[in-house]
Amino acid sequence: MKAPRVEKVAKKTFDEILSQLEELPSLPSMVSTTLNILDNPDSLTQDLTEALSYDQTLASRVLKMANSAYYGFPRKIDSLSKAVTILGYNSIRNIVLVTKIFDSLGRGSKDETLDRKGFWQHSLGCGAAAQVIGDKLGFGNGEEIFLAGLLHDIGKVILDTFLHDKYSEVLRAAQEKNLLLLEAERNALGATHEHFGYWLAEHWNLPLNLTAAIAFHHDPQKSEEYFIVTSLVHIGDILTRALEVGNGGDNQIPPVDTQAWAALNLKPALIENIIGDFENKLKQVQSFLPVDLA
Ligand SMILES: [Fe+2]
Ligand SMILES: [Fe+2]
Repeated sequence: MKAPRVEKVAKKTFDEILSQLEELPSLPSMVSTTLNILDNPDSLTQDLTEALSYDQTLASRVLKMANSAYYGFPRKIDSLSKAVTILGYNSIRNIVLVTKIFDSLGRGSKDETLDRKGFWQHSLGCGAAAQVIGDKLGFGNGEEIFLAGLLHDIGKVILDTFLHDKYSEVLRAAQEKNLLLLEAERNALGATHEHFGYWLAEHWNLPLNLTAAIAFHHDPQKSEEYFIVTSLVHIGDILTRALEVGNGGDNQIPPVDTQAWAALNLKPALIENIIGDFENKLKQVQSFLPVDLA
């Protein structure tokens, strides 16, 4: 996948930030071990259960998720091996990724300018909307689509964490001048949260469909073979704003990409039809957030 293009003027800022970004913890080795097990077709459920059991946070999160409304199993699941069998590898993979990303970046600083609670509500909303639309259109892979939506704006967290003062000005400028945050970022930094999100996704070696949705959700046509998932996230982002769920950092609604709309064969009636499903999904996915943000 091609990297998103960065204007020449942005290069300097970008280089300065890279050194700070280098201090960002890489995903802990335990996560790599778990992800390796998950990617190995010959691995056993037992290997996975054992790897998870070494990390208490992760083990309890897997159990909590297995018992959450998102999966809706009727009976209480009380052992890790049962949870692993029931949830399956893909769900566990997503839980591992989300847990570690939240551990590293989920909580805001004390003087937060980006309203983190509102931000994660926006992210959940985007994931829920993208998943519900994807389901309706028969694209399958609902959890992958949800995760792409949940993480699409992660670049904003990077900017708020590592360029805090500057980013506070950017957020303020967006509000005062009624700009899209993307435009305010480009004006001040020469690069946007898509670029920073892309860098992080690369640094953490996230799956390519997630990387594409993070890097191109405002311009899905550039996402090449990940056009469908990126378009779903693009539409999910806009729908979430239109329905005023959470806070994406500005109060503008970005324009709909006509090619994404056409490629998904969306109709206004379908969007109206999914509002109820979207609200239900939004309630289910709350369990993806750490308790203090929910
Ligand atoms: Fe965005
Ligand atoms: Fe967004």
